[in-house]
Amino acid sequence: MKKYTNIDDIQDVSAIISEAKTLKSNPFAHKELGKNKTLVMLFFNASLRSRLSTEKAAKNLGMDVMSLNVNDSWNIEFEDGTIMNGNTSEHIKEAAQVIGQYADIIAIRSFPGLVNRNKDYKEMVINSFVKYSGKPVVNLESATAHPLQALADAITIEEFSQKKKPKVVLSWAPHPKALPQSVANSFVSMMQLLEVDFSITHPKGYELAPEIVKNTPVNYNQEEALQNADFVYTKNWSSYSSYGEILNNDKKWIITKQKIGAAKFMHCLPVRRNVIVEDAVLESENSIVIPQANNRTYAAQVVLKNILENL
Ligand code: CP
Repeated sequence: MKKYTNIDDIQDVSAIISEAKTLKSNPFAHKELGKNKTLVMLFFNASLRSRLSTEKAAKNLGMDVMSLNVNDSWNIEFEDGTIMNGNTSEHIKEAAQVIGQYADIIAIRSFPGLVNRNKDYKEMVINSFVKYSGKPVVNLESATAHPLQALADAITIEEFSQKKKPKVVLSWAPHPKALPQSVANSFVSMMQLLEVDFSITHPKGYELAPEIVKNTPVNYNQEEALQNADFVYTKNWSSYSSYGEILNNDKKWIITKQKIGAAKFMHCLPVRRNVIVEDAVLESENSIVIPQANNRTYAAQVVLKNILENL
C-alpha cells in the first residue's frame, strides 16, 4: 500500500481485515518495522479517536509520532497563484515539502467547509499533501471520506457477525449541526466490498452522491428498512444535493430500542445521546460502539504496517 486516502487504496479487503485481526491478537509482533520511522499527524479539526488510536497503532509498530494542531501554526494557503496578502501566511507547496522532510508517513484530519460542494469533493487538503509532501498520506477523515473508520467498521462487523451474509442497514438520524457525508460515504463504499445484505435509509433530500451509492438499495421508510437487520449503523450527514443544508430534523428518525430489535447498534462516535440514539440503546448489550472504537487502532495499524512495508 502506497497511501490510504480512500477505500480504493485497499487491494484485497478480506486480506486486510484478516491481517488487522491478526495484529489485534499480537499487537507488538512488528515492533521493529517502524523503528526510526516517524508518523506526523496534522489536525485541521478536533479528534479523540482518530488521534489516539492512530498514535497507539504507530507506537505498537515502533514508530515515533509527532502531532500538530494546524490551527496553532501558520494559516496555510491551498489555492495556486494567490496573492497572499490576506490571512494565509504559508503556501501548501512549502509547508507540505517541509513536513515531508520530517515525516515518513503523514496522517491528516481535515473537515469540509460544507458550502461549496465542488471544492469539498476535490479534496484539496489531502490531495495537496499527496502531491507536494513526497510521503505516503493517511486520511484521518477528510472532506468526503473516513476510510480508517470504515475499515474499523468492517473489522467490527466481521467480529460480531453470526451469519455468512448479515443484513446491514445504514440509517440517517437527526443532528442539530450540519455534518459531512464522509463517514457515510466510506461506510457505503466499504459495505459494497463485503459479503453483506446492505441498504441505506434516510429522509428524501439526503441522497448521497450517485457515484457512492451505485446500486445500493435506498428505502425512505426507516422502520421498514430496519426490519430483521443484524447491524444498524447510524450516522447523520447534511444534504449532498442541497449541499451542506439541514433539510430535516424530524425526531422520528432517532434510533430506539424498539426500532433496532435484536440488531447490533454501531456508530463511529462521538454520538449525541437522545438526539441520534436513545440512552437505552447505547446502554444495552446491542450496542457495539466501544469495541468498534477499539478497532480503530487495528485498522490504523494494518494500514501503517502495509505502508511501512512499501517505503
Ligand atoms: N470516529 C472518529 O473519527 O472519532 P474522532 O472524531 O474523535 O476522531
